[in-house]
Amino acid sequence: MSELAVLGGQPTRTEPYPPWPEFDDRDLQAVITVVKSRRWGGYPYPGPETEAFLQGFLELQGGRYAVAAANGTVTLEVACRAAGIGWGDEVIIPAYTFQATAAAPLAAGAIPVIVDVDPNTYCIDPAAVEAAITERTRAVIPVHLGSQMADMDAIMDIAERHDLIVIEDAAHAHGARWRGHGAGTIGHFGSFSLQSSKILTTGEGGVLICRDETFRDRAASIIDCGRPHGTVGEVFTLGYNYRMSELHAALARVALERFPEQIAQREAMAAYMDEALTEIPGVRPLPRDPRHTTRSFYRYVLALDPDVFGAERDAVAYALIKEGIPAETGYPPMHRYDLFQPLLSQLPVACAFPERFRFEEMHFPVAERACLREALWFDECVFRAGPKGVEDAVAALAKIQRHAAELQDAADRLRREFDI
Ligand SMILES: Cc1ncc(COP(=O)(O)O)c(C=O)c1O
Repeated sequence: MSELAVLGGQPTRTEPYPPWPEFDDRDLQAVITVVKSRRWGGYPYPGPETEAFLQGFLELQGGRYAVAAANGTVTLEVACRAAGIGWGDEVIIPAYTFQATAAAPLAAGAIPVIVDVDPNTYCIDPAAVEAAITERTRAVIPVHLGSQMADMDAIMDIAERHDLIVIEDAAHAHGARWRGHGAGTIGHFGSFSLQSSKILTTGEGGVLICRDETFRDRAASIIDCGRPHGTVGEVFTLGYNYRMSELHAALARVALERFPEQIAQREAMAAYMDEALTEIPGVRPLPRDPRHTTRSFYRYVLALDPDVFGAERDAVAYALIKEGIPAETGYPPMHRYDLFQPLLSQLPVACAFPERFRFEEMHFPVAERACLREALWFDECVFRAGPKGVEDAVAALAKIQRHAAELQDAADRLRREFDI
C-alpha cells in the first residue's frame, strides 16, 4: 500500500491544528457587557464600542481616519463612492483576487478592468496597471494577496502621475507593513475584512482607513444611510445601512488585544517555512521583498512547478489535506471565476458596456498559471502551531513529492473524488 494518506497510508499529522477564531472569557464578557447595555446595533453611528475599536485599529495599523462597516466588500464599494467614482468609470483590479475586489466597483456603477499579476508576488503588476490606463480610469485596487504585498512604491508613483485614487484591498494584510507603513495607510483608502476566516476577525465586519477627514466623513455618511457626518455638513447623500453592530465591535476590540502576539508568531514561523521549503524539488517559496517589513498574513502562498514536482497542484492540495495539513488551491482567475458574472447578473453597467466584459477573450498568463497550476496556500493556523506545525506541513509536502508518481497515477480518480 502507498505511504500517502490520500492512497490509504498513515497521515503525517493526526493532531489538529489550533482552531480559529480563538476566544476566551474576555470575548464572553465583552458580549455580555454590550447585551446588558441594550445598544446592540450600530445606530446611532458610530457607537462607543465601534469608536473604541477604530481607535485601537488605527493605533495598530497606522493612519488617522477610519470607519467601520458590515464587511470588507462594502468598505471597497464605499471607498469608490466616497471618492466620487461611479457610472462608467474604470477601476483597475488584479486578475488574482477574491470576487469582492471586482464586485465592489461594479456596485458603485464602475467597470472593473482586470490586469495581470506579478509572478513573484501574485499581486497586481504595476506595468500592467500603467498599460491599462485610459481616459476613463479613476482608480486602482491593489490587493495584498495571501502572504505578499503589492509593490506600493510603483503603484503610488503611477497613481500620482495619472491622478488616480488608490484603494488598497488589505483583506489579507492586517498588521502587514511596507517600509514600516501599515498596509492600507499608503493609498487614499485601505479596506480590511473582519470576516470569520480573516486574521483579525469579529465574525463579519470591515474597516476602511481613509487618507483624510473628508473621505472619512463621506464614507461614514454612505455607511449610515446617507446621514450627514462631520465635514459633509447638512447634506444627505445616497447611502445604505452598512453599519457595524456594537456586538461585533466589542468582539473586534478583544481580537485586537491578541493580535500583536499572533503577528509575531506567524511572522517567525513563516521565515522558518521559507527556509524549509527550499529543500523540496519543484517548490518555489515566493521571494520576500525587503520593503515588506512586517509580514503579517492570511494564507502562506507558495508556487509549485508541477512538471518538476511530479504531480498536479490540485492533487497535491488534496493529498496535503489527507496528510492532516490545511491547504487550499486559492481563487480562480477573475476572468474565469464562476462567482463573478456581471453579464449573467444583468448588471446595468455590464449591459451598457458589454465589450468590457468579454471574459472569454481575456488572457492573463501569469494569473492563469498561478491560479490554475502553481499556487498552493497554507492556512494561517499552520503558523500558530509552533515549529512542529511548520515541520509537519513541510514533511507532508516532501513526502508527497517523493511519491508524486503514485499520486499522478491516481490523479483521474482523485479528480472525480475531490471534484477538482
Ligand atoms: C481579497 C479580499 N477582498 C475582499 C474581501 C471581502 O471581505 P468580506 O468577506 O468581509 O466582505 C475578501 C474576503 O472575503 C478578500 O479575500
